[in-house]
Amino acid sequence: MIIFQKIKNVVKREVYFLKVAYKVYRLMNTKEETINEEEAYQSGIIQCSELSFLRELVQKSNVLPGPIIEIGTLFGYSTRKIALWKSSSKKFITVDNYSWNPYAIDKTSHFKLTKRILSPLIKSANVIQINMEKNEFYKKYSGEVPAMVFLDANHSYEETKHDIYWAKRVGAKIICGHDYLQAFQEVKRAVDESGTLAGLQRSLWLLSYGGVANLDSCAQIKEVKE
Ligand SMILES: C[S@@+](CC[C@H](N)C(=O)[O-])C[C@H]1O[C@@H](n2cnc3c(N)ncnc32)[C@H](O)[C@@H]1O
Repeated sequence: MIIFQKIKNVVKREVYFLKVAYKVYRLMNTKEETINEEEAYQSGIIQCSELSFLRELVQKSNVLPGPIIEIGTLFGYSTRKIALWKSSSKKFITVDNYSWNPYAIDKTSHFKLTKRILSPLIKSANVIQINMEKNEFYKKYSGEVPAMVFLDANHSYEETKHDIYWAKRVGAKIICGHDYLQAFQEVKRAVDESGTLAGLQRSLWLLSYGGVANLDSCAQIKEVKE
């Protein structure tokens, strides 16, 4: 009886995982303009109306030395967009500890599903998927000064502040992130306290901060600001 119950639970879990995988693959392959705001919000992904600004920032980072670093991969929606727009030689590191997803699948399944989604990019587009707590990654990072850091992980005040602090400390040329929104007051506060808002498209924010000539090397970003 107990064995039967265990088998039943395993089958139930697998069926649920397959349903989630189907949903995620479908979302990944849906034309961005047909994903409505609520669906994107509930799915935890970047909005269609923010993509042109993200694309612009990636294109700016293409002419700067150093990698692009994304903090918060989820299932790789924004990762795939960034990978598509970056130059082929540009290294792109995406970091997640798989602690959250909107379907509550376990960490291991979440990581494996995302790895499968990103595998063509990992194999051939210089994309590196790192399964790690972000603060641990910050401690260990000893690579080149990043051209761009895109922050979209934990949206608490302390964590966002720390993310920006690290990006500044390593001298990232472009520091941007997601969810500068009324609903995420803590992100707003952390961004506002860390520098000046140099660009905002819906909730996609770009920071200008003293000492780093990011805006001087990115004339178009200035236009976004004005
Ligand atoms: C909003 S989702 C990222 C969405 C993704 N950028 C997109 O647009 O498709 C936030 C992600 O941050 C991750 N995360 C939260 N806290 C983290 C931490 N301390 N270290 C690493 N990743 C974290 C979660 O596991 C989740 O996958």
